[in-house]
Amino acid sequence: MTKFRNFLAATAVAAFALPGIANADGTVEVLHWWTSGGEAKAVGELKNAFEADGGKWIDSPIAGGGGDAAMTALRARVVSGNPPTAVQLKGPGIQEWAELGALNDVQDVATSENWDGVLPPALAEIMKYDGKYVAAPVNIHRVDWFWANPEVLAKVGVTDMPQTWDEFNAIADKLQAAGITPLAHGGQPWQDATLFENVVLGIGGPEFFLKALVELDQDALTSDTMIKSFDQLRKLRGYVDANFSGRDWNLATAMVMRGEAGFQIMGDWAKGEFLAAGKVPGKDFVCAATPGKGFVLNSDSFTFFKVSGDDRVKGQKKLASLIMSPGFQETFNLAKGSIPARTDVALDKFDDCAKKSHEDLLAAIESNSLVPSMAHEMAVPRSVRGEFMDLVTNFFNSDMSSEDAVKTLAAAIKRAQQ
Ligand code: BGC
Repeated sequence: MTKFRNFLAATAVAAFALPGIANADGTVEVLHWWTSGGEAKAVGELKNAFEADGGKWIDSPIAGGGGDAAMTALRARVVSGNPPTAVQLKGPGIQEWAELGALNDVQDVATSENWDGVLPPALAEIMKYDGKYVAAPVNIHRVDWFWANPEVLAKVGVTDMPQTWDEFNAIADKLQAAGITPLAHGGQPWQDATLFENVVLGIGGPEFFLKALVELDQDALTSDTMIKSFDQLRKLRGYVDANFSGRDWNLATAMVMRGEAGFQIMGDWAKGEFLAAGKVPGKDFVCAATPGKGFVLNSDSFTFFKVSGDDRVKGQKKLASLIMSPGFQETFNLAKGSIPARTDVALDKFDDCAKKSHEDLLAAIESNSLVPSMAHEMAVPRSVRGEFMDLVTNFFNSDMSSEDAVKTLAAAIKRAQQ
């Protein structure tokens, strides 16, 4: 750890002593994984606003939903002593990089703009290391959503969205009998893990979710509730089409748009895809929270890596200030499908799904049922998340029993914590 830390300090200085791109108004190189239609539109808003303010933006997109490929690229960049200026990074990952001494802080911007006064305290804490802001949040995404095509549901006489997994299964059986794929899904580990955490929330409720997926309690991990969760995941496996393996999440969204599938279970970045394709919420597609009466939180943020040189440091501060400006938070989130991270941005221009997200978020905070997403790196270290994803994907692609899944999972999580 210390060796790596020293290495970081030395290489960061060396790399940025090299001739750089001189730009008096600040330069940022931004590493992100926003490459789908809705995502590209949203990050385009950030780039345009940054450039309109006189900054120079160097785009470093690394395709791959959920960001696993981007995180691998980030590691390689830091190890080679050439970190990007700003990185789409979140949750415990921010703390992990901060502990290695790899980050710059933007506390002076945060103080002068009173970030503490406008961010939900729980989110503000995630952005800070040692009491100083090292990252700036762009949004609040919700993971526990059903997205459905109402025309497709109408074909089997369904007008109401399911409230429980049993209700979902009943609708899915009807769709299947009518020759329609019930669930659009992409078989990639992070998407399988997204299904899994939705199921755990619905079967066990928010308190169980916290115990099992955040506190990693062995009793919860080996409980009957967890076995039942895997049983429901097995059900979902039966509702996907034959070509699900490896499919990107946005192609699964397109299946719902085109009426080839009834539902997708995905965070509200899926709404960004519907909107980018000109689809109208409440008419062309509908949203509803998945069962469980909770709120699975995912928030994107940009983290500032240790770079030197006036131009880059200025770029970081400019970006930090822009990200947190109320106008930008509105424009960006209208495109991204999420809601602003700032609590003081009016939602007048947002659709009903966003308004529901906001209402449910407040209710979840009030009733202690807000839970951080395991699949989207808000809850546990990457090593632990990796164990969840391996097991869940393995289960999804084999005939492993729920009992075996639970035993193997609990043992793997225990090992990952040692
Ligand atoms: C990110 C979203 C992104 C999604 C799919 C999530 O982990 O938080 O911003 O749109 O992955 O790439």
